[in-house]
Amino acid sequence: MTRPLTDTRDLSALPIGVFDSGMGGLTVLHECLVALPSEDFIYVGDTARFPYGEKTKEELERYATQIAAFLECTGVKLLVVACFSATAAALPALQARFSTPIVGVVMPGARAAVQSSRYRRIGVLATEATVASGSYERAIHGLDVAAEVHQQACPKLATFIQEGDVASQEVVDAVRRYTAPLKEKRPDVVIMGCTHYPLVAPMLQRLLGRDVTLVNPALEIAREVGDVLARQGIARQEDREGEYSFLCTGDVETFRAVGARFLQMPLGEVRQVGLDELAACEAAHDARGTA
Ligand code: DGL
Repeated sequence: MTRPLTDTRDLSALPIGVFDSGMGGLTVLHECLVALPSEDFIYVGDTARFPYGEKTKEELERYATQIAAFLECTGVKLLVVACFSATAAALPALQARFSTPIVGVVMPGARAAVQSSRYRRIGVLATEATVASGSYERAIHGLDVAAEVHQQACPKLATFIQEGDVASQEVVDAVRRYTAPLKEKRPDVVIMGCTHYPLVAPMLQRLLGRDVTLVNPALEIAREVGDVLARQGIARQEDREGEYSFLCTGDVETFRAVGARFLQMPLGEVRQVGLDELAACEAAHDARGTA
């Protein structure tokens, strides 16, 4: 949906909305906080419906649309879909339905991988939903049609990382299990295609070997967010420290505890947003659109 030409509001003071199925998007938020320290952010973790990696395209479109409607009605100047599974399944549907600019997470990582790969052999570690969508293959081939793309789905890895200790045996065994077949394809660049995986980046690097360049798309996403704000003239100009607010659909205390581990800073107050509230925002958005 395009923005009406009569809408000439100054949007720069509005926060940036970021959402994920749970905690993984906090690795994207972290890079945004480093790159854009004076911006305000509002983060929604859909922990009640985590994990997204096992959901269907239709479910992911519905969840992402509800959260985008909620954030748009809260008032944000840009939306970051900080979840690969949701981006892969729902980015076109979101762009069709909302007028707020939306940054997804697949393309920035694909671009960095293509630019970094000397041998044009690119590996992707991602959830089942992301692999099944084929979006990485499309994004990489859109930039280099002859690059080899080797995808490896990593069932449960995000769940183990989110729910346990990143150095637990469960995580180590899973990382070993998923990196072994990928290593056989001899990629020179591997994309961490799930927002949870940067938490196990040292382990991935050890198991894939020193010759493999690991791409953390979060860095590229933060850069893209900065570029969009600058080009549209909606970046915060003041020298200030931004404010952050956190919402989740599941248990608030768990979010606060696990979130502090992901973000490595206290989250402060976390508000719970009900699934019914999200659904109501979507209905209100639709009603406004058809009015
Ligand atoms: N954050 C999700 C992603 O980047 C992974 C976790 C999940 O399965 O929900 O795909």
